[in-house]
Amino acid sequence: MISKKNLTKSDIKKLLSDKFFKKVFIITGKNSFFKSGANIFFRKLISDKQTKIFFKNSSLPEINELRSIINSIKSFQPQLLIAIGGGAVMDYAKIANLKDIEKNLSQNIKKNNHQNIKISKLIAVPTTAGSGAEVTSNAVIYINKIKYSIEGKGVLPNYFFLNYDFILSNSKKLKSSSGFDAISQAIESIISVKSNNKSLIFAKKSLLISTKNYIKFVKKPNKNNANLMSLAAMYSGQAINISKTTAPHAVSYPFSALYNISHGHAVSLTLEKFLKFNYLNINKSVCDFDLNKRYSIIFDIFKVSKIDDLVKTLKHIKTQANLTDNFRDLNIDIKNDYHQILDGINNQRLKNNPIKLEKKDIKSIILDKQN
Ligand SMILES: [Fe+2]
Repeated sequence: MISKKNLTKSDIKKLLSDKFFKKVFIITGKNSFFKSGANIFFRKLISDKQTKIFFKNSSLPEINELRSIINSIKSFQPQLLIAIGGGAVMDYAKIANLKDIEKNLSQNIKKNNHQNIKISKLIAVPTTAGSGAEVTSNAVIYINKIKYSIEGKGVLPNYFFLNYDFILSNSKKLKSSSGFDAISQAIESIISVKSNNKSLIFAKKSLLISTKNYIKFVKKPNKNNANLMSLAAMYSGQAINISKTTAPHAVSYPFSALYNISHGHAVSLTLEKFLKFNYLNINKSVCDFDLNKRYSIIFDIFKVSKIDDLVKTLKHIKTQANLTDNFRDLNIDIKNDYHQILDGINNQRLKNNPIKLEKKDIKSIILDKQN
């Protein structure tokens, strides 16, 4: 058996030739599987295996579809699970692969109650460059439009396989949204209360790559920038696996659940607003590190010297990537709907913000009443 986690093409070929893996269960999406070219790549490698493919339908990972996946895995009894797709596919595979999670499924998810034991080996194959979910030990699931997080070492995939070929065919919109997720995760990680020296190294590595390659990848994708953005996404995953995310992620979930805004786009709606709020309130930091120094790291990477320039730069990046933060353009009546958004915020992630946030602060941030 291969001992390293990050598989090369020859590693994955070797792994799949293992006779132990007689039955292979694939969780994927139609686009992820066919458009990416993953079907051609994997078809050859698993031709002598018994295979079952589950194509997910929902854009967000939700409990009813998860139940169908679990039932399908239970009846098939595979030795190997391959998740080929974006964040939602990874989330499904990571949770469905947990032993006995199906007994009281929604309660187990709400309480993060599981034995941390995998049913079979799991290979994560991302077909977007964004979430870094291939290297994180948590997974998201929505129950009644509220986001819950399952965490633990049993959730972490055994292996991951990055292949730029699979992400080159992503739509421009998907490239923009996923890539911005990687950027936001790395920035949030740098200032998260749970960050440490290790997460800082991963976050810096990620941002140094993404700031140079994100817009190129969106506007003029090629093998080189696609490959680099895959790495940036994976490093951002490594970073948040330690530090977790902060306010922009916490507030993004209701935007995705209520208005179907893709994850990275939803995160981009408030990123620079929270960065500015945190910076203006830096003397109220609840971190055990120097928040000023962490902001200096971000300033250096973005080649700016003050917060307003960082805000401008991030806004410019969003404009270039076509990620609007104008609620009217997104058909969101923010003045009417903001309380629904406030109700859907993920408090676990909010707690990682370096400055304590009250509901009134978030309200003025999403209504853009910050000076
Ligand atoms: Fe994210």
